[in-house]
Amino acid sequence: MRLAIFASGNGSNFQAIAEAVKAGRIQGEISLLFCDKKEAYVIQRAKDLSIPVISFSPKDFESKEIYEAELLHLLEEEQIDLIILAGYMRIIGPTLLEVFSNKIINIHPSLLPDFPGLRGIKDAFESGATTTGVTIHYVDDGVDTGPIIAQQSVEIEADDTLADVETKIHAIEHKLYPEVLAQIIKTQQGESCS
Ligand code: GRF
Repeated sequence: MRLAIFASGNGSNFQAIAEAVKAGRIQGEISLLFCDKKEAYVIQRAKDLSIPVISFSPKDFESKEIYEAELLHLLEEEQIDLIILAGYMRIIGPTLLEVFSNKIINIHPSLLPDFPGLRGIKDAFESGATTTGVTIHYVDDGVDTGPIIAQQSVEIEADDTLADVETKIHAIEHKLYPEVLAQIIKTQQGESCS
């Protein structure tokens, strides 16, 4: 199974997935990292792991449609089976969604449907919630609304700072995302063999 990971920032989830692939815990190959921010740290991580990087920004194109059409062309050329979003800070548009229907997976740092959007951890923390968590879901045309695949919760203790909650969430993400991806890929491979 040929995987493309999309990321925009730090790339700690990218790293966790890449390590799981390397260790043979995920039966797939990371064919490429796509990054829409040329200065993002995730690019360095990919280079260190010898994973091919493609990087361009929507700003380089006249419209989002043309940007995604270029991306789609690359993904088809690379025969990508599954797109894994790992901190990709953009909404996937219809150009990609129509072709990769049910083949785009995202991780979100809250228990969806609570606290969707860009600030999932902060919004949960500031709401006074005592529980938050991590959600892995298929991507649809909404913002963090697609069918949920897995969730794991974590307590927000009374004396936790925002940084404490971020640390707990990321620790869960780095374990849960590779495990869930391994399972999905195993299931899909089983289906394509039968
Ligand atoms: C993660 O918290 C993920 O849930 C969210 O963006 C963050 C990316 O972190 N979608 P990193 O770039 O993988 O370190």
